[in-house]
Amino acid sequence: MSVDTRPAGLLAGRRVVVVGGASGIGLATVRAAAAAGAAVAVLDADGDGAATAAEQARAVGASACARRVDVTVEAEVAAAVDGAATDLGGIDAVLHVAGVMRGQGLDVREVTAELWSQVLAVNLTGPFLVAKHAVRHLTGRSGVLVLVGSKAGVLNGSGSVPYGASKGGLHGLALTLARQLRPQGIRVHALCPGDIDTPLMRRSLAEARANGADGERVAEIEAALGRPEDVASTLVLLASPVSDGVVGTVHTG
Ligand SMILES: NC(=O)c1ccc[n+]([C@@H]2O[C@H](COP(=O)([O-])OP(=O)(O)OC[C@H]3O[C@@H](n4cnc5c(N)ncnc54)[C@H](O)[C@@H]3O)[C@@H](O)[C@H]2O)c1
Repeated sequence: MSVDTRPAGLLAGRRVVVVGGASGIGLATVRAAAAAGAAVAVLDADGDGAATAAEQARAVGASACARRVDVTVEAEVAAAVDGAATDLGGIDAVLHVAGVMRGQGLDVREVTAELWSQVLAVNLTGPFLVAKHAVRHLTGRSGVLVLVGSKAGVLNGSGSVPYGASKGGLHGLALTLARQLRPQGIRVHALCPGDIDTPLMRRSLAEARANGADGERVAEIEAALGRPEDVASTLVLLASPVSDGVVGTVHTG
């Protein structure tokens, strides 16, 4: 028997933006937020995937819209966040889930500056730009901003040099924004998941194997992957006013 762990109704009346909502943890978050009663804006570099995610949210009765955005391009981020605010009639929570994993299993001597810059641009500059342009919509509404990091770069290292560095940087960004924005009534968290079964993780395991990682260790990780839905339900909780007393970094399996 499958157990339904959705926190029904927690987001009734809340307007939630999910950045990176077309796939994996973000897609599970769009579904969970819609099931919990939120109106949802799905933002993603994959415009078709974002539109499909919004359709899935509407299929469970939620109000939902989609916009294409590359989080590394400031003008696109500003337009997408402002557009989402117009579509939803305001924003109560921004859940920044978008990210990339590249360079899995590469020795630091093999990491090119180009690869480093690509990963840092999406995983660190992206959340900075989203935060920068979300704040004007969140101020004065008990707004919530959650940046999805990773245990990599915070609790343990990563198999990818740029990925681990980017997630450590994101953690510092979230701590700094939490301190700066709290007086403005905005609650900021970093959410750090463990290894989760998503397209990113499947690509990452394949890359690790291709780059000569220990096959047994990769198989162990593969066998223990968590579910995107479990991270999504935590994001729904954090987006809800029931979490107003929660501070700081939140970890999930
Ligand atoms: N899967 C895991 O094991 C795991 C563990 C810890 C943290 N995370 C983090 O969770 C987040 C989601 O990962 P996932 O595993 O669901 O990955 P995923 O690849 O399934 O989804 C990532 C989404 O981000 C979008 N995206 C990528 N680059 C973008 C850009 N420049 N602009 C806008 N959107 C962009 C993609 O189109 C995709 O829809 C990431 O930040 C990842 O680092 C994942």
